[in-house]
Amino acid sequence: METLGRPCLRTVEAYRPGKPIAEVQRELGLRKVVKLASNENFLGASPRALAELRRAVKDSHLYPEGASPLLRRALAAAHGVSEGQVIVGNGSDEVIRLLCEALLGPEDEVVCSRHGFIRFKQQAMLMGAGVVETPMRGHTHDLAAMARAVTKRTKLVFVASPNNPTGTYNTRSEVDALLAALPSQCLLILDEAYAHYAEARPDYPRSLPGLVRQRPNLVVLRTFSKAYGLAGLRVGYGVGDAGLVAWLDRIRMPFNVALASQRAALAGLADAAFVRRSVALTAKNRAALVRALSALGLKTEESATNFLFCEAPLPGRELFERLLKRGVIVRSLDEYGLTRHVRISVGSASQNRALLFALRGALGETR
Ligand SMILES: Cc1ncc(COP(=O)(O)O)c(C=O)c1O
Repeated sequence: METLGRPCLRTVEAYRPGKPIAEVQRELGLRKVVKLASNENFLGASPRALAELRRAVKDSHLYPEGASPLLRRALAAAHGVSEGQVIVGNGSDEVIRLLCEALLGPEDEVVCSRHGFIRFKQQAMLMGAGVVETPMRGHTHDLAAMARAVTKRTKLVFVASPNNPTGTYNTRSEVDALLAALPSQCLLILDEAYAHYAEARPDYPRSLPGLVRQRPNLVVLRTFSKAYGLAGLRVGYGVGDAGLVAWLDRIRMPFNVALASQRAALAGLADAAFVRRSVALTAKNRAALVRALSALGLKTEESATNFLFCEAPLPGRELFERLLKRGVIVRSLDEYGLTRHVRISVGSASQNRALLFALRGALGETR
């Protein structure tokens, strides 16, 4: 493969997802395993989405409608944009991939932040594009530094806000200034996977529909994986310029989102009560977890998400291993170059209790 494979893929590593529960049970012979590694919704899935999913699986012998038209229409109405401005993907991850496939080649560059969501960099590398990484201000993206890093070769600037894995967000004025500084041929991809958890903050940008209407070079990404609790169904979407969306549609897999997933997401979209409950309970459990971690001497970054970015008193990988032995899966962040941190998803009260119990044991272990 070293000679057959495209040269730009030689340095690309496979994405390392949070360890699945079943794998840990098998490998360590544990019965009870708590997973706080992938920022899933501890409340489960939206009940309305689940009810529709049960109905929709009966139609599993049918191909879905390729462009997810009903979901697209509902999303357009929900966000005050036109249907042509919405693309639905197999998770927002697919939309990131489509953007890179449609726009990038070896002669192009993308600008990412040093500890920004790693999928941006990985997808750009897949296309052979150059990746320029700018330093952060603490653990928050420095959008002014990102603007300064833009050259004539830059096609995409990627900003996850709130960011995974650091949990921080950029303010409306920071995003406005970045957009104002970008040349028109350079797109800002604003990944708002965790928007529901951040949008109550007065300085969180109102990207949909406001900013997208004003700026044709802005694409906003959202997902059903977090506040709607539908990570397993793989539905996300992008909102941007209709001309760009038409390009993405050309290269999308013909049936990229499963029929049952489209139907469940459509029902989930209408489940505002579930989203409100998810956001409120997450905030409550997050605050309690921050206090409990701090009592154990662990510092966390202020989070606008459903996870905590936590400084480890030992190498993050080691803390991860020690917790794993005790049946709790968190995420170590070596691939981000963050060797002294772990990312911990906010869980239910009982999951968080199990985490804290395991943490006490893990921190008490002599090295
Ligand atoms: C910032 C960010 N963007 C995008 C995604 C991908 O989400 P999905 O593909 O499940 O929609 C994630 C997943 O955790 C994320 O944290």
